[in-house]
Amino acid sequence: MNVLIIGSGGREYSIGLALHKDPKVSKIYFAPGNGMSDTLGENVSITDYDELADFAAEKRVDLTIVGPEAPLVDGVVDIFKAKGLTIFGPSADAARLEGSKIFMKNFLKKYGVPTARYVETEDFAEASDFIDTLQAPIVVKADGLCAGKGVIIAESHDAAKEAARDMLSGASFGDAGKAIIVEEYLDGYELSLFAICDGKDYKVLPAAQDHKRLLDGDKGPNTGGMGAYAPTPLIDETLYAKIRERIIEPTLSGMQEEGMPYEGVLFIGVMVVDGAPKVLEYNVRFGDPECEILMPLIESSVFDLFYKAATKSLESLDIRIADKYAVGVVMASKHYPYKSSVPAEIIVDEVVLEELREKAHISWAGVTKEDGKLFATGGRVLVCVGIGASIAEARDLAYLMTGQVHFAGKKFRKDIAYQALADA
Ligand code: AMP
Ligand code: GLY
Repeated sequence: MNVLIIGSGGREYSIGLALHKDPKVSKIYFAPGNGMSDTLGENVSITDYDELADFAAEKRVDLTIVGPEAPLVDGVVDIFKAKGLTIFGPSADAARLEGSKIFMKNFLKKYGVPTARYVETEDFAEASDFIDTLQAPIVVKADGLCAGKGVIIAESHDAAKEAARDMLSGASFGDAGKAIIVEEYLDGYELSLFAICDGKDYKVLPAAQDHKRLLDGDKGPNTGGMGAYAPTPLIDETLYAKIRERIIEPTLSGMQEEGMPYEGVLFIGVMVVDGAPKVLEYNVRFGDPECEILMPLIESSVFDLFYKAATKSLESLDIRIADKYAVGVVMASKHYPYKSSVPAEIIVDEVVLEELREKAHISWAGVTKEDGKLFATGGRVLVCVGIGASIAEARDLAYLMTGQVHFAGKKFRKDIAYQALADA
């Protein structure tokens, strides 16, 4: 089978790595891929989706997998499907679950899916009145995609009003902030849940925990994610069952009712408040770096998982998950997440320890190859992934791997998985 993966990050690399090991897959294309994905397949520089679909048809691509949200929101799935191609991901309509927070919140309310109390508005007076009814901290969100920056957690009523005013005036996020959500602050712990959906049926992957802040101890600015681990002990069968019954199932049946059956990855940002799961947000794609740690935990064919989801036949899939843990530590460049950094050459020591060779690997992200040398050119450069019989073992292996990697200005958190290991 031939597969095309759209995207260039560590997430797309990790999907490619899993497919590369899958005997069903003969050829992988990445559009555009990164400086290391060409070791797994072929990088393709076509950016226009119509042209990319023609390329997929010409190369007899059996399955296209879309990594990031932007092409989904832009309708890449609709374009491919119109040409009769098999593609894994939601339509542009369904991708509004991530593309518009207002669409998402109204959908949740309509179908009774638990989420924070909110108002949606374009009017400052209405926002301000609702803010007065809440206790600080107060959450203010821009409607549209803001590369993960459109959420303000304001510590006071005045700060919440200021954030609302700045968003509504277009000063903060331009058009993406023309309409806003103001919502109550949920106090609990966060989980990342991923359901692979075919419109009707779904498979849930082990719950993961991300580390969004830049610095140890969850300090510093928000990032795309500095590390993740799975499965997390912060969830048990009872909580999984609540998430299925109260969140995933009403979402899938609601999307069917809306005439936009949900196909693709449903990434549920869950806040667990006193044992009850509430939806913080939906994303319509895998998390990054969550994908990098989930892919190696799937023992059954990863190709089958995506292919069956893209062809509405997940019901017949028997997904097998390894009885292991994975920890991923993101290594980022010097100025991440503030600004870009000068490209730095990456040197990886030869891995001599057999255990490390077998149980750890690097998922490459913001890297470029030039004259046979590898350079760190993106914010998040790579993820060191360790797989072990316990979270502690997986964590130790991931950190051993970070010691093999050298580039000027490299930085990474030293406490990934600390919440799981606190009582160990
Ligand atoms: P979002 O992009 O909506 O997931 O928000 C980004 C982050 O802000 C989440 O991962 C949470 O850590 C935090 N957050 C968002 N909404 C809330 C809320 N209502 N209560 C508490 N924290 C929130
Ligand atoms: N790691 C969180 C995200 O990809 O949005």
